[in-house]
Amino acid sequence: MRMPHPIQYQGSKRNLAATILRYLPCNFSRLVEPFAGSAAISIACAAKGRAKSYWINDLNEPLVELLELIINHPSEIADAYQQIWNQQLEDSIEHYYRVRADFNRTRDPRLFLYLLARCVKGSVRYNSEGLLNQSPDKRRHGTKPETMRENIFGVSRLLRGKTAISSLEYKDVLSGVGKDDVVYMDPPYQGVCGNRDSRYFASISHDEYVSALAELNERQIRYVVSYDGRTGDKIFGKLLPENLSLTLVRLEAGRSSQATLLGRDDITIESLYLSQQLAREVKPVPYFHRKPENEQLVLTEPEKYYVAKLF
Ligand SMILES: C[S@@+](CC[C@H](N)C(=O)[O-])C[C@H]1O[C@@H](n2cnc3c(N)ncnc32)[C@H](O)[C@@H]1O
Repeated sequence: MRMPHPIQYQGSKRNLAATILRYLPCNFSRLVEPFAGSAAISIACAAKGRAKSYWINDLNEPLVELLELIINHPSEIADAYQQIWNQQLEDSIEHYYRVRADFNRTRDPRLFLYLLARCVKGSVRYNSEGLLNQSPDKRRHGTKPETMRENIFGVSRLLRGKTAISSLEYKDVLSGVGKDDVVYMDPPYQGVCGNRDSRYFASISHDEYVSALAELNERQIRYVVSYDGRTGDKIFGKLLPENLSLTLVRLEAGRSSQATLLGRDDITIESLYLSQQLAREVKPVPYFHRKPENEQLVLTEPEKYYVAKLF
C-alpha cells in the first residue's frame, strides 16, 4: 500500500515508518506524537490499523493548522493548493517569493503547504525572527494538484474522526498521556547548528528532555524515541543516559546526502530507544534484514544495549 504524504518535510520519518512500526505493539489504544512534524508515523500506523486513535502535536502552529485542514477539511485545502499552484505558471520563482512573504505576514497554513511542496526537499528554514527564509527549488514546480489531492484525501480517510490535534509544548502533551497510550517522540535534531536548529524554529534542552523521559518511566508509560544520529564516526548530539533503562535499536538510514556529495560511504545510523515497559511487551528480536532496493538495512540488538557501551 502506498502511504499518502501531502506534506514534504525534511526529517520526515516517512521512509523509516514501516521499520519503526515493528517496535510498536500490534494493537493499542492511542498513538501520541508530541513532535509530529508531517505525522509520518501516525499516518503509517493508521494505514496498518494498529491504534484506535491518535494525538498529533507540534509546536509549529501553521504546520498543525495544516494537518487539521488535511484531516478534517480535505476539499478546502486541496482546492486552495490547486489555486495557489496554478497561479505560479507564469513566473514560478517570483510567485514563490510572493507566497513566502504573504505566509510570513499571515501564517496561513494553505500557503505553507505550497511552500513546503516547492522549497528544496521540504526543508523549511527560519531566520532569527522566526520568518521562513528558504528559497524555492528552481528545478521543480512542486507536487501536481491532482497528486496532492489524492494524498490529502488519503490522509483524511486514515485519520479523520479519530485524531486529536494540538500545538503545545511537548511536556504539556506528556503530562496528558496515560498507560494505554504509546508515545512516539522525534524531537528536533541536536547539534545541527549550535543550540538552535533553524529547520524547526525551536529546539529542546537535552537535560529537560531526559527528565521528562525519567518521569514517563516512573509513570510506566510506553514510549519510543528517535534520537541521536551518526554518520560514519560522527555522532550528532548527546546520548541518552544509561539510567533511563532504554533498549537501543539501531537503524541504518542509508547514505547521508552530505556524504554522497563528498563521495564518501558514510551511512547514517538512526537510533531508536524503547522504554522498558515497551521493550518488555514487544521483545525486540535480533535480525539482519536486507530489504529490496531503496529500502533500509536494519540491525537490531538482542538484549538491552546501552549507547554508552556502544561507541
Ligand atoms: C524531527 S521533526 C519531526 C519529524 C516527524 N517525525 C516527521 O516524520 O515528519 C521535530 C518536530 O518537533 C517540533 N518541535 C520542536 N520543538 C518542540 C517542542 N518544544 N514541543 C513540541 N514540538 C516541537 C518541530 O516543529 C518539528 O516539527
